[in-house]
Order: sequence, then structure tokens, then C-alpha cells
Amino acid sequence: MTELQLQELLSEMSLGEKIEQMIQFHGGFYGDVKLITGPGHDYSVKPDQQWRIGTVLGEAGYEHLKKLQEGFMEKQPHHIPAIFMSDVIHGYRTIYPVPLGQGASFDPELTRELAEATAKEASAAGLHVTFSPMCDLSRDARWGRCMEGTGEDPWLNARFAEAMVSGYQGDGIDKQGNIAACVKHFAAYGAATAGRDYSGVELCERTLLEDYLPSYEAAVKAGAPLVMSAFNTINRIPCSTNQWLMRKILRERMGFDGVVISDYGAVQETVVHTSSYDKKDAAAKALRAGLDIDMMSDCYLSYLEEQAKESEELRRLIDESCLRVLELKNRLGLFDDPVRGSKELEEKYFYCDAHKELSVRAARESAILLKNEGLLPLAKECRITVVGKLATSTKIVGSWAIFAESDKTVTFGEAVKCRYPEAKVEVYPYDTADEKMLAACKRSDAVIVCMGEEDEKSGESKSISDVSLCREHQMLFDAVYGVNEKILSLIYAGRPLAIPMLAEKSEAILDAWYPGTFGNIGIWELIFGDANPCGRVPMSFPYTTGQLPMSYSAFTTGRPVEDRNGFVPFASNYMDVPNTALYPFGWGLSYSTFEYSSVVLSHDTLTEDGKITATVTVTNKGTMDGKEPVQLYIRDVKGSVIRPCRELKGLQKPFVKAGETVTVSFDITTELLRFYNEDMEFVAEPGEFKVWIGGSSLTKNEAEFRLA
Ligand code: BGC
Repeated sequence: MTELQLQELLSEMSLGEKIEQMIQFHGGFYGDVKLITGPGHDYSVKPDQQWRIGTVLGEAGYEHLKKLQEGFMEKQPHHIPAIFMSDVIHGYRTIYPVPLGQGASFDPELTRELAEATAKEASAAGLHVTFSPMCDLSRDARWGRCMEGTGEDPWLNARFAEAMVSGYQGDGIDKQGNIAACVKHFAAYGAATAGRDYSGVELCERTLLEDYLPSYEAAVKAGAPLVMSAFNTINRIPCSTNQWLMRKILRERMGFDGVVISDYGAVQETVVHTSSYDKKDAAAKALRAGLDIDMMSDCYLSYLEEQAKESEELRRLIDESCLRVLELKNRLGLFDDPVRGSKELEEKYFYCDAHKELSVRAARESAILLKNEGLLPLAKECRITVVGKLATSTKIVGSWAIFAESDKTVTFGEAVKCRYPEAKVEVYPYDTADEKMLAACKRSDAVIVCMGEEDEKSGESKSISDVSLCREHQMLFDAVYGVNEKILSLIYAGRPLAIPMLAEKSEAILDAWYPGTFGNIGIWELIFGDANPCGRVPMSFPYTTGQLPMSYSAFTTGRPVEDRNGFVPFASNYMDVPNTALYPFGWGLSYSTFEYSSVVLSHDTLTEDGKITATVTVTNKGTMDGKEPVQLYIRDVKGSVIRPCRELKGLQKPFVKAGETVTVSFDITTELLRFYNEDMEFVAEPGEFKVWIGGSSLTKNEAEFRLA
């Protein structure tokens, strides 16, 4: 349809009809419901009204959605089709590593491929929109949803966010095989106070703009046509009714002209938050903030029409919002072709070989070898005992795998049988050691202790106050350690756990996150050395919960401590643990050693429009080919406001054959140096800068330049 035709359609619609387009219900209104994350639907729906609303949440499957769509087309007075949206954040049927694991791959291009594969399956099943990417930067492992994001770094999160949008949307959201992205949760949901889900966010404006917003903005710039407002407050105003945030920042400053949808029930929650007087007030406030779709609350449904009859302003805003929803339907091609997918496409893509292979590869690239004292890789003929309940658990795919079939998940115990049938592996899938288990451990060449958390322990609302390894797993480890010290600690988790004891006693530690449907096969390939680990820490692993929130990109203090060498009185440090992480951002080992040359800069002075090229050579000194995430960090030595001690500003992940050397270059322009100065202008300030290029945020491989 042309814009004119859409406007004509709008002009023919009644006020009530327009408001209905601005409503989202979940599948409970049509029969089945997959997952409910908030209040149900105890509000009054007029007869057949569920067939006239604009969008539906959480339903999928070609036959099912086709039927639903036919219902909408028949009963909506203007035969307007519905949009089907759902949370398909790391795979539809074939599940890939959770987003935090993908963050650990340090490879946005891999994530683009995963999003593309996800879109193929989801679109085959009739979906139009996914509630992804979740761009919420998180520096607090207590927050159960840190697993849904890609980590602690603004620059890296932005790269992953745009990669996901591009993977989902491909060559157009109107095409079969692609789905539209909905950027969430705007904004700064990951900064929930004390890591407790849904709690308020207290950030200064500079931190919000500089650290938290870049990833959402990157996703918007990459072309995502929807944004979801967050549950939390910003400046003590819930995001869904926050005019400054939604109009000024999102629409004006970022130039977003698409659809804004609330999070589940978030509009009515503003009443409970106490910033809206009642649901009527909440509806008007959300509309004024530019919120187009009310997901699962009855504020728009029951409290907008009456007040809009009395207010020209509200009627104008309803027209704007409804038109945006119609425009989205048009961009999705729904007026020409309202039904996505087919039975054949579902059969073709669900668990197809290409997606299976991708699931294995992604798990290999997401796992981080945190420690290795020569235990790994294990020889294929050695005798291995595997212990721990997680060894046979299917709860290792991560949350929001709502359309996954758990009987398809390959457990760690099964994966070795299908990939290495000859391997001598005994599995004791219990978290409590008994004599038989310990006797097997004792006679083994190596023991793999599976620890961490099953996937129901992280995700929405699953915040915890203590991120250390649970007591049961500490005891299991200790019991095994008592009979055999050749231990590989294999961790499944949706957050970086505090594991100082494992760091001290294990011979090797591999963090597999939640690797997805077939990911455990990839984990065994790493263990047996058929693949070389290349994952890196996307979110700091603390020594203790008390260090949280934390990030490598911290600010200097007036009383800094440099390298830790015991406690320094009256300096900014802890008496019991270092300030820094146990495993910091960017950290991760390989079976090869990569040697870096010194950093060579093309110039020592940068001008406003110029560029400096920073170059290193990287040599694989090992005997195994491998990938190395080469990281560029920059520091503005002095500024009108204090600057982080270093920030990631570039990344490449070359494949380097054993014994070979590659050259890696990064261009540095003033774009990379901008920040909000004392007057809140986004500028690069002249002066000294430091540059590091290396294999982690700890690198000391340094050079300097000046900005003229
Ligand atoms: C979550 C969102 C999700 C929505 C719809 C909410 O509870 O916060 O991330 O997209 O439910 O399922």
C-alpha cells in the first residue's frame, strides 16, 4: 500500500478500531498459551474484540498462525491482518548458545549467521517479529537476565546488536525467511539496582548516554523497526511513560520513527510504581510518551477511548500511533501476503543439517577456556569420568527457548557417545559423591566435573544475591579433588559465576554457558582438541558477589591502586579481594600461544578529520591452528570529565595457522574518541591518548598519540 492508501484506511477506521490496533494480547485469548511472564487477562474484552486487535504475542507454528490470521482477516472490520511476535532470541527450534555465550565468541559475524538461521525457522513457523536483540548492557551478574545480553561493553554490545538486526532482517522484513527485530528493553534495564530484576535504575545522564544507549542506537540505526520500552525507571519515571526518554532521546535524538511497544503489562505497572494515578492516567501518559502498542495491559483497551473523545490531542496521538502500526504491517508485506511460512518450510529448516552444524560451531566458539595447566586437550584414548547432574541434563539451552523441544537437546553424556563412540567415558550424573563415583574418579586419567546452574536458575526474574558456585557443587568438587586432582571444571551457567576456589584447584576450567540443542558436541570437540578454544570473557568474572557491579572499563579514583600487591590502606581497594576481576573482560585461553608484535602507529598525531592506523602482527606459536580475538583499547589520558581507564574500540578475529603470522590493523579516528564533556557536548578533546592492542583487556602492549 502507498502511504496515502494507509492514511485513507486510517481515516475510515473508528476511534475504537484504531485503539484496538494498539493492543497486544497473548495466545491465551485464542486457546493455548506458551509462557506468561506477568498478569493474565482479567480485563473486559468485548465479544470478538480479540480478533480486532493489532498484534499477538508468543504464538507460533504455521498451521496455528494461519488459522489465527484467517480469524483476524474475517472479523476485523477492515480485514486488517495481525502481526505475530514472539521471543525467539537464540534460536526457534534449533537453539544456539544464549546471547551472553554469543558475546563470548567475540564474533558478531557468527551472531549474524545465528540470527539469520533463527529467522529462517521462525519465519517458516509463521512469525513476523522477534523480541530481540536485547541490548541491555549488564555489569551485574546477580541480574538473571544478563544471559540475554552480550555482556558489559558498550562498543561490543553495539556490534552484536547490529549483527542480530542484520541477521534477522536480511534483505527485507517483507520476505519469507526474514523476521523484523524489536530492540529491547529501552532503556538501561540491565542496570537494575542491586541486580534485582524490575528494580529501579539510578544512572547519571552521562553514564546512560555513553555506556548504556550505544547498543540500542546501533540496533535502531541498523534498521530495527520496533523498540520495546523497559520495565524500569529512568530519572525515577517508568520508561513506558517517560516522555524525555521515548520522545526526546529515542525518537528525536536517535531518529527512530518505528513502533514502540511496551513490555508485558508495563503500562499498568506504572500505577503500581505510583507515578501514574490510575490506569486512565497511565494510558494517557504512555500515549504522550509515544508508546504505540500496549502489551498485555488493559490501559489502552479500556481507558483510552473515553478520554480521547474529549481530547483532540489524544485523538491526534492515537492517529499517529495507529498509523505507525499500519505502516509496520505494510512494511512487513502483510496487506499483500498476511500468512508467513508453510509446512514445507518448517520441515526444511527445523533441525536441518546446516543449523545443527551452526549450533555445534557456535558452542565451540562461545566456550571460554578460563584456565588450563596442560590438562586439555585430553587424549582420545584416556579414561575419563564425568560427574554431576548437569552431565545428563537437558536444561542447558537457556531461557526463552519456548519453541524448543527438550527431547532434541543433546546432553553432555549423550554428545560424547554420538561424536566419539570409542571414547572411554563413564558418567555419574549426580551432584553428591558416592563411593562408586569416587572409585571411578580415582582410576581415571581425568575427571570432568559438571557444575554451575541449570537454565531455570537464570533468566527473567531469576536474580540472585550470591553468584558463587553453589555449596553442593563445591562439595562435589572437593570430594573428587580428594581422590584425583586432574580435574576439568566444566561450567554451565547464564552468568559469570564467582569461582575462586575452582580457579585455584582445577587443572582446567571451561565455561560452556548454555550451549544450545547440539552445543555439547562442540564442547567435546574442544575437550579432545578437534577444535581450538577461542571464546573470551564478555562480562567480568568476579572473585565475590561484593565486587558487583563491575567492569574492566572502570574509572580512576583520586586514590588508585595499580597492580595488586596486598591491601593498601587509605587507597581505593578492598581488604579481602583485588579490585579487578578473577577473569577480566576479553580474557580467554587457546591451545596455541599467540605472540603480538609492538603496536606501530602510522602517525603520532591525529587531526580532527584524519586517521591513525594502528598495526600489530600476531604469530601463532603453537602447533594447532586457531582464532585469536585481537582487541584494540583506547584511553583518553586526561579529560574535562574523568575517562575510563581503557575502552574497547576495535576487534578482529583472524584465523591463524600454526606457525604463521598475520598482520592486523585498526583505523583510529576522532569518532572513537568522543564522549560527553563537561557541557554535555559529544566531542573528542585534544590531548594525549593511549592505545593497546592485545588478546585481553589486561594487555600492556601500548603506544601513544596526541589529538591535535
Ligand atoms: C519480557 C520481555 C519479553 C516479553 C514478551 C516480558 O516479560 O521482559 O523481554 O519480550 O515479556 O514475552
